[in-house]
Amino acid sequence: MSPNAHVTDLTVNPYKADFPLLANNPELAFLDSAATAQRPAVVLDAQRRFYETMNANPLRGLYKLSVEATEAIQQARQHIARFIGAPNAKDIVLCRNTSEALNLVAFSFAPMVLRPGDEVCITIMEHHSNLVPWQQVCKRTGAKLVYMYPDKNSVITEEEMRAKIGPKTKIVAAAQVSNVLGVENDVKTMAKIAHEFDAYMVVDGAQSVPHITVDIADIDCDFFAFSGHKIFGPMGIGILWGRHELLDAMPPFLTGGEMIESVTQQGATWAPVPEKFEAGTQDAAGAYALNAAITYVESLGWGAIEAREAELAKYCIEQLSALPFIRLIGPADPAAHHGAISFNVCTVHPHDVASILDMNDVAIRAGHHCAQPLLAWMGIESCCRASVAFYNDKQDIDKLVEGLKKVWSMFNGE
Ligand code: ALA
Repeated sequence: MSPNAHVTDLTVNPYKADFPLLANNPELAFLDSAATAQRPAVVLDAQRRFYETMNANPLRGLYKLSVEATEAIQQARQHIARFIGAPNAKDIVLCRNTSEALNLVAFSFAPMVLRPGDEVCITIMEHHSNLVPWQQVCKRTGAKLVYMYPDKNSVITEEEMRAKIGPKTKIVAAAQVSNVLGVENDVKTMAKIAHEFDAYMVVDGAQSVPHITVDIADIDCDFFAFSGHKIFGPMGIGILWGRHELLDAMPPFLTGGEMIESVTQQGATWAPVPEKFEAGTQDAAGAYALNAAITYVESLGWGAIEAREAELAKYCIEQLSALPFIRLIGPADPAAHHGAISFNVCTVHPHDVASILDMNDVAIRAGHHCAQPLLAWMGIESCCRASVAFYNDKQDIDKLVEGLKKVWSMFNGE
Protein backbone atom coordinates (compact mmCIF):
# COMPACT_ATOMS: atom_id res chain seq x y z
CA MET A 1 0.00 0.00 0.00
CA SER A 2 1.38 3.44 -0.88
CA PRO A 3 1.99 5.77 2.10
CA ASN A 4 -1.12 7.84 1.33
CA ALA A 5 -3.46 5.04 0.30
CA HIS A 6 -5.33 5.40 3.60
CA VAL A 7 -6.56 8.81 2.54
CA THR A 8 -9.32 7.59 0.25
CA ASP A 9 -9.47 3.98 1.42
CA LEU A 10 -12.29 4.28 3.94
CA THR A 11 -11.66 0.79 5.32
CA VAL A 12 -8.33 2.02 6.69
CA ASN A 13 -8.20 4.63 9.45
CA PRO A 14 -4.90 5.72 10.97
CA TYR A 15 -6.48 8.96 12.23
CA LYS A 16 -8.65 7.79 15.14
CA ALA A 17 -5.53 6.82 17.10
CA ASP A 18 -4.67 10.54 17.27
CA PHE A 19 -7.97 11.36 18.99
CA PRO A 20 -8.23 9.94 22.54
CA LEU A 21 -12.03 10.11 22.70
CA LEU A 22 -12.36 8.17 19.45
CA ALA A 23 -9.56 5.74 20.27
CA ASN A 24 -11.09 5.01 23.69
CA ASN A 25 -14.58 4.48 22.27
CA PRO A 26 -14.06 2.25 19.24
CA GLU A 27 -17.79 1.38 19.16
CA LEU A 28 -18.74 5.07 18.66
CA ALA A 29 -19.60 6.40 15.22
CA PHE A 30 -19.15 10.13 15.83
CA LEU A 31 -20.98 11.90 13.00
CA ASP A 32 -21.50 15.34 14.53
CA SER A 33 -18.25 17.14 13.76
CA ALA A 34 -20.10 20.11 12.25
CA ALA A 35 -21.41 20.85 15.77
CA THR A 36 -18.01 20.37 17.35
CA ALA A 37 -15.02 18.32 16.24
CA GLN A 38 -13.02 15.95 18.42
CA ARG A 39 -9.56 17.08 19.55
CA PRO A 40 -6.32 15.21 18.88
CA ALA A 41 -3.93 14.42 21.74
CA VAL A 42 -1.52 17.10 20.50
CA VAL A 43 -4.17 19.76 21.17
CA LEU A 44 -5.09 18.36 24.60
CA ASP A 45 -1.37 18.16 25.43
CA ALA A 46 -0.83 21.75 24.32
CA GLN A 47 -3.65 23.02 26.55
CA ARG A 48 -2.17 21.13 29.50
CA ARG A 49 1.38 22.25 28.66
CA PHE A 50 0.29 25.88 28.75
CA TYR A 51 -1.12 25.57 32.26
CA GLU A 52 1.75 23.39 33.47
CA THR A 53 4.66 25.35 32.06
CA MET A 54 3.70 28.91 31.10
CA ASN A 55 0.57 29.85 33.02
CA ALA A 56 0.39 33.52 33.94
CA ASN A 57 -1.88 36.34 32.93
CA PRO A 58 -0.77 37.39 29.43
CA LEU A 59 -0.04 41.04 28.63
CA ARG A 60 0.02 42.09 32.30
CA GLY A 61 3.14 40.74 33.98
CA LEU A 62 6.74 41.78 33.44
CA TYR A 63 8.11 38.46 34.64
CA LYS A 64 9.17 35.50 32.47
CA LEU A 65 6.02 33.40 32.76
CA SER A 66 3.76 36.26 31.77
CA VAL A 67 6.03 37.08 28.86
CA GLU A 68 5.80 33.43 27.74
CA ALA A 69 2.00 33.50 28.00
CA THR A 70 1.95 36.68 25.94
CA GLU A 71 4.30 35.07 23.43
CA ALA A 72 1.93 32.08 23.18
CA ILE A 73 -0.87 34.42 22.11
CA GLN A 74 1.27 36.36 19.65
CA GLN A 75 2.63 33.19 18.01
CA ALA A 76 -0.91 31.85 17.71
CA ARG A 77 -2.01 35.10 16.09
CA GLN A 78 0.81 34.84 13.54
CA HIS A 79 0.02 31.23 12.70
CA ILE A 80 -3.72 31.90 12.41
CA ALA A 81 -3.01 34.85 10.10
CA ARG A 82 -0.84 32.67 7.82
CA PHE A 83 -3.44 29.90 7.94
CA ILE A 84 -6.27 32.07 6.56
CA GLY A 85 -4.09 34.23 4.31
CA ALA A 86 -4.37 37.40 6.42
CA PRO A 87 -1.60 39.89 5.65
CA ASN A 88 -1.10 41.10 9.24
CA ALA A 89 -1.28 39.14 12.53
CA LYS A 90 -2.31 42.34 14.32
CA ASP A 91 -5.69 42.14 12.61
CA ILE A 92 -6.46 38.75 14.19
CA VAL A 93 -8.84 39.43 17.09
CA LEU A 94 -9.31 36.72 19.72
CA CYS A 95 -12.96 36.10 20.60
CA ARG A 96 -14.88 33.26 22.27
CA ASN A 97 -16.39 31.85 19.07
CA THR A 98 -17.83 32.73 15.65
CA SER A 99 -21.02 34.10 17.25
CA GLU A 100 -19.09 36.59 19.35
CA ALA A 101 -16.93 37.57 16.37
CA LEU A 102 -19.99 38.25 14.22
CA ASN A 103 -21.73 40.14 17.03
CA LEU A 104 -18.63 42.31 17.29
CA VAL A 105 -18.96 43.23 13.62
CA ALA A 106 -22.72 43.72 13.82
CA PHE A 107 -22.67 45.92 16.94
CA SER A 108 -19.39 47.77 16.54
CA PHE A 109 -18.96 48.15 12.78
CA ALA A 110 -22.46 48.04 11.28
CA PRO A 111 -23.87 51.13 13.08
CA MET A 112 -21.02 53.14 11.53
CA VAL A 113 -22.34 52.47 8.03
CA LEU A 114 -26.09 51.74 8.35
CA ARG A 115 -28.75 54.41 8.04
CA PRO A 116 -32.57 54.05 7.80
CA GLY A 117 -33.48 52.53 4.43
CA ASP A 118 -30.07 50.91 3.89
CA GLU A 119 -29.92 47.15 3.32
CA VAL A 120 -28.02 44.26 4.85
CA CYS A 121 -27.99 41.30 2.47
CA ILE A 122 -27.57 37.77 3.82
CA THR A 123 -28.44 34.28 2.57
CA ILE A 124 -31.39 32.20 3.71
CA MET A 125 -28.94 29.45 4.72
CA GLU A 126 -27.27 31.45 7.49
CA HIS A 127 -26.71 29.93 10.90
CA HIS A 128 -28.50 32.06 13.52
CA SER A 129 -25.11 33.49 14.54
CA ASN A 130 -24.86 35.25 11.17
CA LEU A 131 -28.54 36.16 11.10
CA VAL A 132 -29.89 37.25 14.50
CA PRO A 133 -27.17 39.91 15.03
CA TRP A 134 -28.11 41.42 11.64
CA GLN A 135 -31.81 41.37 12.54
CA GLN A 136 -30.98 43.19 15.75
CA VAL A 137 -28.76 45.79 14.15
CA CYS A 138 -31.32 46.39 11.38
CA LYS A 139 -34.00 47.03 14.03
CA ARG A 140 -31.73 49.51 15.80
CA THR A 141 -30.64 51.40 12.69
CA GLY A 142 -33.78 51.25 10.52
CA ALA A 143 -31.98 49.18 7.88
CA LYS A 144 -33.70 46.33 6.05
CA LEU A 145 -32.62 42.70 6.00
CA VAL A 146 -32.67 41.22 2.48
CA TYR A 147 -32.22 37.51 1.68
CA MET A 148 -30.51 35.68 -1.16
CA TYR A 149 -32.01 32.24 -1.94
CA PRO A 150 -30.40 29.18 -3.53
CA ASP A 151 -31.65 27.52 -6.71
CA LYS A 152 -32.78 23.88 -6.94
CA ASN A 153 -29.15 22.75 -6.82
CA SER A 154 -28.61 24.72 -3.55
CA VAL A 155 -26.52 27.30 -5.44
CA ILE A 156 -26.86 31.04 -4.86
CA THR A 157 -26.30 32.13 -8.43
CA GLU A 158 -24.59 35.32 -9.53
CA GLU A 159 -27.97 36.32 -10.98
CA GLU A 160 -29.54 36.02 -7.51
CA MET A 161 -26.64 37.96 -5.96
CA ARG A 162 -27.07 40.76 -8.50
CA ALA A 163 -30.83 40.80 -7.92
CA LYS A 164 -30.36 41.38 -4.18
CA ILE A 165 -27.11 43.33 -3.81
CA GLY A 166 -27.52 46.88 -5.06
CA PRO A 167 -27.08 50.58 -4.34
CA LYS A 168 -28.93 50.34 -0.99
CA THR A 169 -26.76 47.46 0.23
CA LYS A 170 -24.19 48.45 2.82
CA ILE A 171 -23.25 45.02 4.19
CA VAL A 172 -23.33 41.53 2.67
CA ALA A 173 -22.88 38.64 5.13
CA ALA A 174 -22.74 34.97 4.17
CA ALA A 175 -21.58 31.58 5.36
CA GLN A 176 -18.79 30.23 3.19
CA VAL A 177 -20.16 26.73 3.82
CA SER A 178 -23.72 26.01 5.01
CA ASN A 179 -23.99 23.97 8.21
CA VAL A 180 -27.18 22.27 6.94
CA LEU A 181 -26.79 21.91 3.16
CA GLY A 182 -22.99 21.59 3.16
CA VAL A 183 -22.74 23.75 0.04
CA GLU A 184 -19.97 26.25 -0.48
CA ASN A 185 -21.24 29.72 -1.32
CA ASP A 186 -19.32 31.75 -3.86
CA VAL A 187 -18.32 34.41 -1.32
CA LYS A 188 -15.62 35.70 -3.66
CA THR A 189 -18.21 36.75 -6.24
CA MET A 190 -20.45 38.11 -3.47
CA ALA A 191 -17.53 40.22 -2.20
CA LYS A 192 -16.83 41.49 -5.72
CA ILE A 193 -20.45 42.53 -6.24
CA ALA A 194 -20.65 44.05 -2.73
CA HIS A 195 -17.57 46.14 -3.45
CA GLU A 196 -19.00 47.32 -6.79
CA PHE A 197 -21.66 49.04 -4.63
CA ASP A 198 -19.16 50.16 -1.94
CA ALA A 199 -20.72 47.65 0.48
CA TYR A 200 -18.72 45.51 2.92
CA MET A 201 -18.42 41.72 2.86
CA VAL A 202 -18.57 39.63 6.05
CA VAL A 203 -17.81 35.89 5.78
CA ASP A 204 -18.80 33.28 8.37
CA GLY A 205 -16.09 30.65 8.05
CA ALA A 206 -17.23 28.39 10.91
CA GLN A 207 -18.03 25.48 8.58
CA SER A 208 -15.48 26.19 5.84
CA VAL A 209 -12.24 26.45 7.80
CA PRO A 210 -12.38 22.79 8.97
CA HIS A 211 -12.91 21.47 5.42
CA ILE A 212 -11.31 23.64 2.74
CA THR A 213 -8.29 25.85 2.25
CA VAL A 214 -9.31 29.41 3.06
CA ASP A 215 -7.56 32.42 1.57
CA ILE A 216 -9.18 35.65 2.66
CA ALA A 217 -6.92 37.68 0.37
CA ASP A 218 -8.37 35.75 -2.56
CA ILE A 219 -11.95 36.10 -1.30
CA ASP A 220 -11.26 39.82 -0.79
CA CYS A 221 -13.73 40.05 2.09
CA ASP A 222 -13.70 42.74 4.79
CA PHE A 223 -14.34 40.52 7.83
CA PHE A 224 -13.91 36.77 8.37
CA ALA A 225 -14.90 34.78 11.48
CA PHE A 226 -14.37 31.18 12.62
CA SER A 227 -14.36 29.01 15.76
CA GLY A 228 -11.49 26.97 17.18
CA HIS A 229 -13.62 24.06 18.34
CA LYS A 230 -14.76 23.10 14.85
CA ILE A 231 -11.18 22.86 13.65
CA PHE A 232 -10.03 20.40 16.33
CA GLY A 233 -9.07 23.18 18.78
CA PRO A 234 -10.59 23.97 22.16
CA MET A 235 -14.08 25.32 22.82
CA GLY A 236 -14.13 28.98 23.86
CA ILE A 237 -11.68 30.42 21.35
CA GLY A 238 -12.81 32.05 18.12
CA ILE A 239 -11.25 34.40 15.62
CA LEU A 240 -12.28 37.57 13.88
CA TRP A 241 -10.14 38.94 11.10
CA GLY A 242 -10.95 42.41 9.78
CA ARG A 243 -9.37 44.88 7.39
CA HIS A 244 -7.03 46.98 9.48
CA GLU A 245 -8.47 50.37 8.58
CA LEU A 246 -11.98 49.17 9.50
CA LEU A 247 -10.92 47.62 12.83
CA ASP A 248 -8.97 50.78 13.53
CA ALA A 249 -12.00 53.01 12.97
CA MET A 250 -14.44 50.85 14.95
CA PRO A 251 -15.36 51.53 18.58
CA PRO A 252 -14.71 48.72 21.06
CA PHE A 253 -17.39 46.08 21.55
CA LEU A 254 -16.59 45.15 25.16
CA THR A 255 -14.79 47.51 27.52
CA GLY A 256 -12.72 47.02 30.66
CA GLY A 257 -9.27 45.68 31.42
CA GLU A 258 -6.50 45.37 28.83
CA MET A 259 -8.36 47.15 26.03
CA ILE A 260 -7.50 50.68 27.13
CA GLU A 261 -4.63 53.04 26.50
CA SER A 262 -5.44 55.21 29.54
CA VAL A 263 -8.36 55.82 31.87
CA THR A 264 -9.36 58.94 33.79
CA GLN A 265 -12.27 59.39 36.20
CA GLN A 266 -14.60 60.34 33.37
CA GLY A 267 -13.17 58.79 30.24
CA ALA A 268 -10.84 56.37 28.52
CA THR A 269 -8.85 56.00 25.33
CA TRP A 270 -8.38 52.71 23.57
CA ALA A 271 -5.45 50.40 23.00
CA PRO A 272 -4.53 49.73 19.35
CA VAL A 273 -6.01 46.86 17.32
CA PRO A 274 -6.34 44.00 18.23
CA GLU A 275 -6.17 44.66 22.01
CA LYS A 276 -8.95 47.27 21.66
CA PHE A 277 -11.34 44.36 21.06
CA GLU A 278 -9.91 41.97 23.65
CA ALA A 279 -11.26 43.15 27.00
CA GLY A 280 -10.31 41.12 30.06
CA THR A 281 -8.01 38.14 30.41
CA GLN A 282 -7.71 36.31 27.12
CA ASP A 283 -7.85 32.54 26.69
CA ALA A 284 -4.10 32.19 26.16
CA ALA A 285 -4.22 28.42 26.67
CA GLY A 286 -6.98 28.21 24.07
CA ALA A 287 -4.97 30.28 21.59
CA TYR A 288 -1.91 28.11 22.23
CA ALA A 289 -3.93 24.92 21.72
CA LEU A 290 -5.62 26.33 18.59
CA ASN A 291 -2.13 26.99 17.25
CA ALA A 292 -1.37 23.29 17.88
CA ALA A 293 -4.63 22.25 16.16
CA ILE A 294 -3.72 24.21 13.04
CA THR A 295 -0.22 22.69 13.04
CA TYR A 296 -1.87 19.26 13.26
CA VAL A 297 -4.22 19.76 10.30
CA GLU A 298 -1.42 21.30 8.25
CA SER A 299 0.71 18.23 8.97
CA LEU A 300 -2.02 16.04 7.44
CA GLY A 301 -2.29 18.31 4.41
CA TRP A 302 -5.44 19.91 3.04
CA GLY A 303 -5.30 17.76 -0.09
CA ALA A 304 -5.56 14.61 2.02
CA ILE A 305 -8.29 16.04 4.26
CA GLU A 306 -10.41 17.21 1.34
CA ALA A 307 -9.93 13.95 -0.60
CA ARG A 308 -10.94 11.75 2.35
CA GLU A 309 -13.94 13.88 3.34
CA ALA A 310 -15.15 13.91 -0.28
CA GLU A 311 -14.91 10.10 -0.34
CA LEU A 312 -16.76 9.84 2.99
CA ALA A 313 -19.57 12.15 1.80
CA LYS A 314 -19.83 10.19 -1.47
CA TYR A 315 -20.06 6.85 0.32
CA CYS A 316 -22.54 8.18 2.89
CA ILE A 317 -24.82 9.69 0.23
CA GLU A 318 -24.66 6.51 -1.88
CA GLN A 319 -25.62 4.39 1.11
CA LEU A 320 -28.42 6.70 2.26
CA SER A 321 -29.76 7.00 -1.29
CA ALA A 322 -30.20 3.22 -1.34
CA LEU A 323 -32.62 3.41 1.61
CA PRO A 324 -36.13 4.08 0.22
CA PHE A 325 -37.32 5.70 3.48
CA ILE A 326 -34.61 8.40 3.50
CA ARG A 327 -35.16 11.87 2.04
CA LEU A 328 -31.83 13.57 1.42
CA ILE A 329 -31.64 17.34 1.78
CA GLY A 330 -29.25 19.57 -0.15
CA PRO A 331 -27.33 19.17 -3.38
CA ALA A 332 -27.43 15.86 -5.26
CA ASP A 333 -23.70 16.07 -5.96
CA PRO A 334 -21.80 14.48 -3.01
CA ALA A 335 -18.77 16.65 -3.83
CA ALA A 336 -20.82 19.71 -2.88
CA HIS A 337 -21.46 18.61 0.72
CA HIS A 338 -18.25 19.50 2.59
CA GLY A 339 -18.90 16.97 5.30
CA ALA A 340 -22.56 17.80 6.10
CA ILE A 341 -25.27 15.37 4.98
CA SER A 342 -28.79 16.30 6.09
CA PHE A 343 -31.77 14.01 5.69
CA ASN A 344 -35.09 12.92 7.11
CA VAL A 345 -36.54 9.49 7.74
CA CYS A 346 -40.09 9.40 6.31
CA THR A 347 -42.73 9.85 9.03
CA VAL A 348 -40.21 9.62 11.91
CA HIS A 349 -39.36 12.72 13.93
CA PRO A 350 -35.63 13.60 13.72
CA HIS A 351 -35.35 13.60 17.52
CA ASP A 352 -36.60 9.97 17.58
CA VAL A 353 -34.12 9.10 14.84
CA ALA A 354 -31.21 10.64 16.78
CA SER A 355 -32.23 8.96 20.05
CA ILE A 356 -32.48 5.51 18.48
CA LEU A 357 -29.18 6.01 16.67
CA ASP A 358 -27.63 7.04 19.98
CA MET A 359 -28.75 3.71 21.49
CA ASN A 360 -26.75 2.16 18.67
CA ASP A 361 -23.64 4.27 19.38
CA VAL A 362 -24.16 6.61 16.45
CA ALA A 363 -23.99 10.34 17.23
CA ILE A 364 -25.73 12.71 14.82
CA ARG A 365 -27.44 16.08 15.28
CA ALA A 366 -31.20 16.49 14.90
CA GLY A 367 -33.32 19.63 15.09
CA HIS A 368 -33.32 22.97 13.32
CA HIS A 369 -29.50 23.24 13.38
CA CYS A 370 -29.68 26.93 14.38
CA ALA A 371 -30.95 27.67 10.88
CA GLN A 372 -34.70 27.98 11.40
CA PRO A 373 -35.38 30.40 8.51
CA LEU A 374 -33.68 27.97 6.10
CA LEU A 375 -35.71 25.02 7.33
CA ALA A 376 -38.95 27.04 7.24
CA TRP A 377 -38.11 28.08 3.67
CA MET A 378 -37.57 24.40 2.78
CA GLY A 379 -40.95 23.58 4.36
CA ILE A 380 -39.62 21.44 7.20
CA GLU A 381 -39.36 22.02 10.94
CA SER A 382 -36.34 19.87 11.61
CA CYS A 383 -34.02 17.31 10.09
CA CYS A 384 -31.21 14.92 10.88
CA ARG A 385 -27.60 15.75 10.02
CA ALA A 386 -24.65 13.39 9.82
CA SER A 387 -21.42 15.33 9.53
CA VAL A 388 -18.06 13.76 8.82
CA ALA A 389 -14.44 14.70 9.38
CA PHE A 390 -11.32 13.00 8.01
CA TYR A 391 -11.19 10.78 11.12
CA ASN A 392 -14.36 8.96 10.12
CA ASP A 393 -14.34 5.73 8.13
CA LYS A 394 -16.52 3.22 6.31
CA GLN A 395 -17.47 1.50 9.54
CA ASP A 396 -18.95 4.74 10.91
CA ILE A 397 -21.15 5.18 7.85
CA ASP A 398 -22.15 1.51 7.89
CA LYS A 399 -23.19 1.86 11.53
CA LEU A 400 -25.32 4.88 10.60
CA VAL A 401 -27.02 2.89 7.84
CA GLU A 402 -27.65 -0.12 10.12
CA GLY A 403 -29.02 2.23 12.78
CA LEU A 404 -31.38 3.88 10.30
CA LYS A 405 -32.68 0.47 9.20
CA LYS A 406 -33.46 -0.24 12.88
CA VAL A 407 -35.25 3.12 13.19
CA TRP A 408 -37.38 2.27 10.19
CA SER A 409 -38.24 -1.22 11.39
CA MET A 410 -39.08 0.02 14.93
CA PHE A 411 -41.62 2.46 13.50
CA ASN A 412 -42.90 0.25 10.72
CA GLY A 413 -42.53 -3.25 12.12
CA GLU A 414 -40.76 -4.49 8.98
N1 ALA B 1 -23.14 25.48 14.40
C1 ALA B 1 -23.12 24.18 14.95
C2 ALA B 1 -23.92 23.20 14.14
O1 ALA B 1 -24.24 23.45 13.03
C3 ALA B 1 -23.46 24.13 16.38
O2 ALA B 1 -24.21 22.14 14.64
